[in-house]
Amino acid sequence: MPDIIAFGSDHAGLALRAEAVRVATAAGFQVEDLGPFSTESVDYPDVAALVGQAVAEGRARLGVLVCGTGIGMSIAANKVKGVRAAHCTTEYEARMARAHNDANVLCVGERVIGLGLGGAVVAAFLSQPFEGGRHQRRVDKISALDR
Ligand code: RB5
Repeated sequence: MPDIIAFGSDHAGLALRAEAVRVATAAGFQVEDLGPFSTESVDYPDVAALVGQAVAEGRARLGVLVCGTGIGMSIAANKVKGVRAAHCTTEYEARMARAHNDANVLCVGERVIGLGLGGAVVAAFLSQPFEGGRHQRRVDKISALDR
């Protein structure tokens, strides 16, 4: 699988998405920015589907989605088979989402955490590996719920 991180947002997440792309690029990750590229209003499920499918189909290893709260993106992305999307508001949650849940999509809310904390949450998510071990069995049980 290519070591690419896919990014997307709605109109309420444009600035934090730009910061997330900056943080990922500075950390050496290969970035696929799926937009949008104007300030026009867009529906977050459309972008969640784009990023979720990129991850589920193996075109990206991880995804990052930004909306106003992070909630709508996480609800929508988790409808894509193979996606384990985690809505995180702290660096601890972001690390645990990777380490224990093998989350493959991070959802964050620009209106909730802003750019400073948001960038740190993204950096924590991207740098934390899955721990495997006992957590693999539980993740396998999550995958078994996909149908
Ligand atoms: C857009 O106004 C807002 O509803 C959206 O960005 C997000 O917060 C939804 O969960």
